[in-house]
Amino acid sequence: MSGKIHAAITGVGKYAPEKVLTNADLEKMVDTSDEWIRTRTGIRERRIAAPDEFTSDMGLRAAREALAQARVAPEAVEAIFVATCTPDRIFPSTACLIQAALGAKRAYGFDISSACAGFLMALDAAAGAVESGRVRNALVIGAEKLSAATDWTSRNTCVLFGDGAGAVVLQAADRPGIRSTLLGVDGTLADFLSIPAGGCRLPASEETVRQRLHCMHMAGRETFKIAVATMLEAAQQAIARAGLTVADIDCMVPHQANMRIVEAVAKRLGDGVLERVFINLDRYGNTSAASIPIALAEAVAAGKIASGSKVLMVAFGGGLSWGGTVVEWL
Ligand code: COA
Repeated sequence: MSGKIHAAITGVGKYAPEKVLTNADLEKMVDTSDEWIRTRTGIRERRIAAPDEFTSDMGLRAAREALAQARVAPEAVEAIFVATCTPDRIFPSTACLIQAALGAKRAYGFDISSACAGFLMALDAAAGAVESGRVRNALVIGAEKLSAATDWTSRNTCVLFGDGAGAVVLQAADRPGIRSTLLGVDGTLADFLSIPAGGCRLPASEETVRQRLHCMHMAGRETFKIAVATMLEAAQQAIARAGLTVADIDCMVPHQANMRIVEAVAKRLGDGVLERVFINLDRYGNTSAASIPIALAEAVAAGKIASGSKVLMVAFGGGLSWGGTVVEWL
C-alpha cells in the first residue's frame, strides 16, 4: 500500500421537476415540429421547474439522495461544489444556499461556472481536495434552471434545454475511483455560446431585457462541429491516461446535448461503443451542468453501472470548455 489517498464516488442522486414540456407543447409556442426536433436533436420532452423552484432547491433534492446512498450525514459533509450557469443569484453562491438548507455546518463550498462542462470541472476540484487529504468527502452537484435563461420566442434554442439537478458524493478511498481527468477550455470561442448580459460588461437594463440578452445565445452549427472534435479528444485522452483502452469502458455517460453529437463521438471512438452509451436526453433535453450527474444516477439505478464498472464521462459546453473523466465504480 502506497498510503496515497484516492477519491471515489460513493453515492449518486438526481432530481427532475414535475412539469414535462413536450415537443408538441413547443409546436404551439414557436414555428417548429416534433419531427424537426426529434430528428435534429433526439429530444422528445424536457422538465421545467416550477416558478417558485430554483437551482438551489433542485440541487438540494439531488444532494440529499446522493448523501443517503453514500450513507453520509449532512453534518459530516466537508465541501460542496456546485456547477451551474443558472445560479439562484450572482452571489452568494448556490453552494452556500444548499449548505444552509442541508444543515451541512462543517462544509465550505463555492460555485463553478463552466456551463455544460461544469460538472466534470467540479468533480476534478473535489477529487483534488479529497486526494490531497484536505477533506475526507465532498458533495459535487450539477444543477440548472435553464428555463429561466431561455428565450422562449427563439426556436433556435428553446427546443434544446431543460431543468434538473444531479449530485455525487466523493469520499477518500484506498484505491482510485477517479482514474483520470482531462479538462480544457478555449476562450477565443467564448461568443459561440453565452448569456451576454447580467455581468458587469452589460448590466441589466430595459434594453438588455428587450433584446433578450439575459438568455442563452448560440451558434448552433459551429458549436456542433467543435463539440464532436473536443469530446472525442477528451474521451481518448482520459481513457489513455487511465491506462485503459476503449474496449475496457463498460458505460459511457456523455453530456446529453444532442443525440447526433453523441452518436458522432461514440462512432469515432470505436465499434460497439454506441451500445454502451447511456442516453436520457430524449426525456430531459440539455440540462447543462446537471446532465451528466442526472444520467449517472439513472445509469446506476438501471444497473448499467455497478461495482467494478469503468465509466467514461465526457462533456462539452460554453467557454468553450470540455472534459473527459474515467471513473471506476468501487
Ligand atoms: N424548428 C424548426 N426549424 C428550425 C429550428 C426548430 N426548432 N431551429 C432551427 N431551425 C431551422 C433554421 O432556421 C434553419 O432554417 P433555414 O435553413 O431556413 O435558415 C434550418 O432549421 C437548419 O438550421 P441549422 O442550424 O443548420 O440546423 P442544424 O442541423 O445545424 O441543427 C441544431 C440545429 C441547433 C440542432 C444543431 O446545430 C446543434 O445541435 N448544435 C449544437 C447545439 C448544442 O448542443 N449546443 C449545446 C452544446 S453544450
